[in-house]
Amino acid sequence: MADVMDKLVSLCKRKGFVFQSSEIYGGLNGCWDYGPLGVELLRNIKDSWWRAMTFREDVEGLDSSILMHARVWEASGHVAGFTDPMVEDKKTNERYRLDQLLEENGIDVNGMGIEAMIEAAHQSDLKSPKGNELSEARQFNLMFKTFVGPLEDESAKIFLRPETAQGIFVNYLNVQSSMRQKLPFGIAQVGKAFRNEITTKNFLFRTREFEQMEMQYFVQPGTQDKYFDYWRRERWEWCKSIGLPENKLSWHEHKGDELAHYASAAFDIQYEFPFGPGEIEGIHNRSNFDLSQHEEFSGKKLKYFDEENREKYVPYVIETSIGASRTTMACLVNAYHEEKVKGETRVVMRFHPRIAPMKAAILPLVKRDGMPDLARKVTEDLRRYFRVVYDDGGAIGRRYRRMDEVGTPFCITIDSESLENQTVTVRQRDTMDQQRVPIEGLRSHIDDNTEAWTVSP
Ligand code: GAP
Repeated sequence: MADVMDKLVSLCKRKGFVFQSSEIYGGLNGCWDYGPLGVELLRNIKDSWWRAMTFREDVEGLDSSILMHARVWEASGHVAGFTDPMVEDKKTNERYRLDQLLEENGIDVNGMGIEAMIEAAHQSDLKSPKGNELSEARQFNLMFKTFVGPLEDESAKIFLRPETAQGIFVNYLNVQSSMRQKLPFGIAQVGKAFRNEITTKNFLFRTREFEQMEMQYFVQPGTQDKYFDYWRRERWEWCKSIGLPENKLSWHEHKGDELAHYASAAFDIQYEFPFGPGEIEGIHNRSNFDLSQHEEFSGKKLKYFDEENREKYVPYVIETSIGASRTTMACLVNAYHEEKVKGETRVVMRFHPRIAPMKAAILPLVKRDGMPDLARKVTEDLRRYFRVVYDDGGAIGRRYRRMDEVGTPFCITIDSESLENQTVTVRQRDTMDQQRVPIEGLRSHIDDNTEAWTVSP
């Protein structure tokens, strides 16, 4: 497991996917920077989500601010309840999450509340990973605090948002009335969220700064179960559409104490990471909890007027909440393959072409006889539609390998025949099969093959 992750982290750095934040100063825990290829991958994932969510009549987009009124987080329950159980190594003062320590010691914490976890820790005489005594557990709030304006006192204290969802709740009537939406309708948002995680690990999986893609779907009370099932199906299909194979995905239902303070039902979509199954998305039935809380705390009416039934009510909300960064990590892990080709190891990132950082590479076979000129022209033509790269450096076999390593699905080679009859070879990354294609048909060849792409299980 460590082996695969180490190789992946190293490839990500070497090839410009992900760098450690502030690396020259020794790094900052739980923060990562996306390099030139990483930012393309992340962007493609976000674009694919945005298209799936907002290219429909019943969902509108939003981009709310990261900083919000402090009362928002009191109303949402985050000030009181957005906590993780923390214990401290009495000797080294290092801090750990109690639930994670228990899991690492073979104790299943599924459905356990803090009291049950403390009891389990006592019963098993739990020690820190360094073998030392642990302090009593206490709840640690994960929200980052800061101050707005020049005064650093209690009245100026605000939080960096730990989820994008609240920006949607407080704007739901603005969006509904400005877009003349009727229930059911949704609001989608992509943006940064911040959590002061006690421990960060597993690369991009659990970080302190990350991006979420959230959608709140507002429905008439009584219809929530139907829409909960509908969105579960939709979201599962979307995960498959970006190349995550069904046999690596699973559902996890939250039960009892595992349910977040706002949720009355919740299912996670998990991906099978090298370290075990990990949540990538949560689909939650948030009932009317958030809107009712905001009504109470703001004193503003947040009821929807249902013209058809001539009644007013607070809608119920089905939420789909997925981490863009965590999904990027799942796609990176999923893509990484090593295979033997003619006695050599080929490293190939098998991204679905929908999300691959570079859609195609254009490669003149040799740097003479007019091939580079034609290759440049093909590059410029395709660049109007896709992110493509031109590469004329080194033997063609080595150039193919370089493209395999960064997951470019189509390699277009310009050879002497290209100059005669305006055709090129297109090499498919995974099968390495080559096909002769007319230059004028390249765009539709790429489009058609992207749509028809089959994800290997
Ligand atoms: N609004 C509901 C909500 O925020 P969540 O389960 O706490 O629910 C949703 O978070 C998603 O955000 C997770 O499924 C995960 O993909 C991502 N996420 C949460 N915490 C994260 C972290 N510390 N690092 C990276 N991604 C995280």
